[in-house]
Amino acid sequence: MTDVVKVEIEGKSYELPVITGSEGEKAIDISTLRASSGYITLDNGFGNTGSCQSGITFLNGEEGILRYRGYPIEQLAKKSSFQEVAYLLLNGELPSQADLTSFKTKITENSILPEGMFKMIEQFPSTTHPMGVASSMFAALTAFYPEYVTKTELNSQEMNALFCQLMGQAKVIISQFYRKTQGLGPVATNGELSYAGDFLNMMFGGETGKEVSQAVSDAFDVLLTLHADHEQNCSASTVRVVGTSKVNLFASVSAGINALWGQSHGGANQAVLEMLEAIQQDGGGYQKFINKAKDKNDPFRLMGFGHRVYKKFDPRATIIKEACDTVLEQLGVSDPLLDIAKGLEEVALNDSYFVDRQLYPNVDFYSGIIYRALGIPTNMFTCMFVLGRLPGWMSQWVEMRQDSATKIARPRQVYTGATTRDYTDLSKR
Ligand code: SDX
Repeated sequence: MTDVVKVEIEGKSYELPVITGSEGEKAIDISTLRASSGYITLDNGFGNTGSCQSGITFLNGEEGILRYRGYPIEQLAKKSSFQEVAYLLLNGELPSQADLTSFKTKITENSILPEGMFKMIEQFPSTTHPMGVASSMFAALTAFYPEYVTKTELNSQEMNALFCQLMGQAKVIISQFYRKTQGLGPVATNGELSYAGDFLNMMFGGETGKEVSQAVSDAFDVLLTLHADHEQNCSASTVRVVGTSKVNLFASVSAGINALWGQSHGGANQAVLEMLEAIQQDGGGYQKFINKAKDKNDPFRLMGFGHRVYKKFDPRATIIKEACDTVLEQLGVSDPLLDIAKGLEEVALNDSYFVDRQLYPNVDFYSGIIYRALGIPTNMFTCMFVLGRLPGWMSQWVEMRQDSATKIARPRQVYTGATTRDYTDLSKR
């Protein structure tokens, strides 16, 4: 028997079906509401509205639970590589050794760019924000792979190939712009390295002679895993919404990169570092910034704090905070900004403003400390988020495209503008 709820509107009763998820979540299916009652719903920011049914990532914000295809993030961060997690997100199962070898080989083979794209990267001024380069270059892939512009209905084999292509090329696009800003040439992919290690080598290796230690690449690999997917966040929803128009994956991912760029979303990891540096330059006192964050007349918010869904703690922040101490110790680095971050967290978590609003550190609060210790420039932090989130975006896009219930995303509105006016009113002007 299908569960239903009854709503009464203007004295008439309407029955709406209830959808129950595999974790017991309940949703009222309102897809017939307007046709039957003339009413729509309004939910600014969609905090109460499901956009789809998905089997990829489950999170419970009240309990601080995050699982990819049913596996707890804490286990995946400890036991799986980022490439295994990327395979899991796309295929629904962890790879066998043979699957993993084939997946890694395909990604390595695709860790190259057409010469024309290298030339395009060279043309960006070095002052360009790397997220603008990344979103532009993903859209530019349509110029070099036009077959994906016309053929947007892909079978699983074609999707897997495209998935590996973008996983490989993302490393090159992001690292190559950094190398260009340093006046360095490209470093070729090295299939012997992990995905994380290969990217860091593409960033810092080659003529610099800089060796990336196993410990550093392992820590970065965990960071990529922690960022790999997060159900219907702003950027994943963007990738899905754009994809419902039947446009190609390159354009959909480019849109997702732009959504992630904002400091309310992935851009927060850069904003956190800038905030910590501002506190340091201001003598290290937190209270002034805490007061600013609480002042409703001040647009300043405590960056890296708060979350639309997590109302207890962000399990990723817990893992990253622990990793900070380990990585800095392994690197022999002591970063005063880490002490400032820990002190700020301590003060905020004892302040009723943050406690009452259930505002806790999120994934972006400590990640920048590690990126900084790895030598990654602050304005590239959000590009690290892109690298991690790419498999999540692509998996969500594939699921959307394969879902027979998918329709073009086209929300309604409540109109509040001028009511009917007669053109002859102009004579009154
Ligand atoms: C990510 O959705 C995802 O899953 C995203 C993400 C992912 O993996 O994809 O987890 C990644 O984007 C993490 C969030 C990174 N952003 C930041 O760290 C920026 C700072 N945080 C905020 O701007 C804010 O907390 C949001 C955007 C994250 C969430 O905002 P909401 O859910 O819209 O919260 P809200 O604006 O309704 O705030 C509720 C109250 C308000 O105060 P009152 O009006 O009730 O008095 O909390 C206040 C807000 O002013 N508040 C903050 C605050 N965040 C919320 N006050 C000060 N500092 C903050 N950071």
